Formats: sequence, structure tokens, C-alpha cells
Amino acid sequence: MAKRTLTGTSLDTLVSLAKRRGFIFQSSEIYGGLSSVWDYGPVGVELKRNVKDAWWKSMVRERDDVVGIDASILMHPDVWVASGHLAGFSDPLVECNDCHRRFREDQVEGDVCPNCGGGFGPARQFNLLLKTFLGPVEEDAATVYLRPETAQAMFVNFENVQTTSRKKIPFGIAQIGKSFRNEITPGNFTFRTREFEQMEMEFFCEPGTDDDWHDYWMNFSLNWFKKYGLRGEKLLLRVHEADELPHYSKASADVEYEFPWGWGELETISNRTDFDLKAHSEKSGKDLSYFDDQKKERYVPFVVEPAMGADRSALAFLADAYDEEGEGKEMRVVLRFHPDIAPFQVAVLPLSKKETLSPTAQRVHELLRPYFNTQYDDTQSIGRRYRRQDEIGTPLCVTVDFDTLDDDAVTIRNRDTMEQVRVSIENLESAIRDLLTQMRTDAKG
Ligand code: GAP
Repeated sequence: MAKRTLTGTSLDTLVSLAKRRGFIFQSSEIYGGLSSVWDYGPVGVELKRNVKDAWWKSMVRERDDVVGIDASILMHPDVWVASGHLAGFSDPLVECNDCHRRFREDQVEGDVCPNCGGGFGPARQFNLLLKTFLGPVEEDAATVYLRPETAQAMFVNFENVQTTSRKKIPFGIAQIGKSFRNEITPGNFTFRTREFEQMEMEFFCEPGTDDDWHDYWMNFSLNWFKKYGLRGEKLLLRVHEADELPHYSKASADVEYEFPWGWGELETISNRTDFDLKAHSEKSGKDLSYFDDQKKERYVPFVVEPAMGADRSALAFLADAYDEEGEGKEMRVVLRFHPDIAPFQVAVLPLSKKETLSPTAQRVHELLRPYFNTQYDDTQSIGRRYRRQDEIGTPLCVTVDFDTLDDDAVTIRNRDTMEQVRVSIENLESAIRDLLTQMRTDAKG
């Protein structure tokens, strides 16, 4: 399969495909939308869910040394004092003296406003935490924050998780969930938004072993994206310069992907040292050290953190899968997703809507849906339906035709090769499994 010669596309084309096919809509669109906030539609929700499931499977279910949690978005306000976010989670902001638009200082070149050409006032630090109030009284004492990262829940639950799961160091705690940041300049579709989902894992290890674990998790992360189909030449690992390290990190590297507008970060893998556990021990008064019963030693573990964005990853999978074949009216748009990332794996399409075909087509659909994520579509011409499935990246279409009534066999059409094979309904499930296995191998980046 010609995975490495995909045409790629512009961001505008992706945004319009995403809307047309039910991947992503603007939030509150009927009210004119809310800037930089997005909703996933019936197809997009399956894509993003598959991205999260693939990560959870690799990170938690297939490993003995990582367990999961699902913590609340709202946490005690002291968490953000201890973590340093209340004091230091800010971006430098500049405001134009003429049009009063605001920009992140590090994202504008020179000192001229890109909107109107005016000059900027002095830069000031702008805190990215989003605030709300708990309870009926809007007063300072009731202020809580929407978490800007999921990670802190793993630190404050370190002891609960360690003792209940009986894990010994080294081990990790993983979580997938929403985070919020009052970004100064959100943009590029779902790449930078104010509400987003993260997939983070905090790996607790013995001090002195942290550099090796940092190398390990950087490789793991890069390989994860390749395993699920992102092309190797569109991925790179960029080590942070000292002046761009987050306040908690001794060393960080980003996995970057070449989006239609250029390179952008998908994930940061940081060596957070013992910064967070120590900070929470001090602030809460709770000892968060660990007793190593083999070495008979007590220490505060170091933490290596792979922190990935679910929305950015889903956007990268969407952009990477995009391909066009042929020209003009004959042009076929096809999303060549890895079968585990594709929103639907199989579409069942009766050749016509005639009543004679429907019961058999429904029977085939019922046979497959316990095993695969399926769609049933009997609207419009078969050509249009194939085109629609190509545009949402469904790897296999199963067509039920009038011969099926005689031979109890159906046709499977392969999204990538467009080859069609005739298979008996009895052998359909295993034939689909075999084809998907082959497509998984072909899709590796
Ligand atoms: N706990 C560490 C942490 O949060 P980060 O690099 O700030 O590190 C991790 O965020 C990942 O979360 C990023 O690589 C990105 O994929 C995603 N992310 C961060 N801010 C985002 C935003 N405003 N919109 C969408 N995704 C974002």
C-alpha cells in the first residue's frame, strides 16, 4: 500500500472535511460559535475514542508496571499552590496600543502588531489557570481552578494508588481526561484550544535511574505514534533548550508532527525529578516518600512523564491519513487510517434498498457488530456510499447484493487497494480479521 506517498492537504480542506463528514463541529455553532472550542461529531467521537483506547491499551492494559486512575477535574486549590501553577503557570503577553489585540510575546516577530501595525505596550505575565467558584457564593474563599494538567492527580494520589495496587517502584499511574488553559492565542483548529483532553502517565522511579527511564519513555512515545500509522518522516523528537523547560523539569523533549502549517508538539516527555512529590509533601504535611524494602532505603521517587494531547493526536492522525487519488470528478478522497484508529472498521452496504436484500444485509450487520465497530448504510447509490466510507476512512466495505440471496456470500472491498473479494457469510468474520491484520501491518509508519 502506498502509505508513504500520501498527498496530504491544507488545514482548510481538513476543517471542511471534518465538518462535512461529522468529525468536528464548532462549539455552539447556531449561536455563532465559541472561539477555539470544538465538538466531536458522530464520526469524530469514534476517532478520538480509538486514539484514547489505543493509548490506554499500550500504556495500562498491556503493561504490568502502570495502573490507571480517573480523577476529578476540580482539585483542592492548594494543589496549584504547591505545584507552582498559581505563581508560575503564565505566558508573556503583549497588547497592541492601537487595536488592543493580545498576543503571546514569543509568537510575534519584532515589536509590531501583526493585526494593525501598531506598537506594543510592555510585556506582562498572564496566568493561564481558569477559575470558577464552588458553592453558591462567588467569593475568593470559594475559588477553585479547572485543572491545567491531569498530572497533579497522580501526585496527590501517589500513596493511595501505591498502597492499594501494591506496586513497587518503578511503576506508573496513567490518566486520560480534560484539562483547561486560558490560552492567549489558541488556534490551528483543535491544535491549541482552551478545553482539551490529555493522556498522561507519571512514572515513579528510583533517583539515579531517571535519565534511563527518560530515554525509555521518549522511544516508547515515538514508536507509539508510528505503530498507529503516523509516518516516520513526519515525526521528530526535539530536545528542549534550557530556557524553555517547564518550571518542574530537569529535561524535556517533544514529539513533534509536521502538520499542514508546520511542525507542532504532540507530546512532551519530561523528567520532573522529585519536584512535585516534595512540593506536595511540604504543602500538605503528608510524607510522600517511599520505602524500598529490597534496599531497605527510604527516598522520594523521581518522576518521568510522557504527556500527550488526545485532540492534537487525533488531528495528527486525521492529517496524516488524508490522501487524494485521481483528478477532477474522478478524484477519490480517502483517509488511510490504521484500522484501530479508523472511526469504523467495517461498513455493511446492501446494493439496493429493496426489501428483498434488507433482511440478509441486516443479518450480516448483526453478525459483525459484536466484533467490529460497524456502520450500516443503505442510502443513495453504492458509488456514493463507497465514497463516503473512503472519506471517513473505513477500511472495509461489505456489500450484500442479489447474488447473496443465492450463494450466501458477500463482497469485501478494500479501502486502500479497492480490490474486491467474494467471501461466504460463514467465513466473513475471519476473512475480515485477516484483512484488518494485513492493513495494520501496512499502516505502520
Ligand atoms: N503535565 C505536563 C503537561 O501538561 P504540556 O506539554 O503542557 O505538559 C502536554 O502538555 C500535551 O497536552 C501537549 O503536548 C499537547 O499535546 C496537549 N496540550 C497542551 N496544551 C494544549 C492546548 N491548549 N490545546 C490542545 N492540546 C494541548
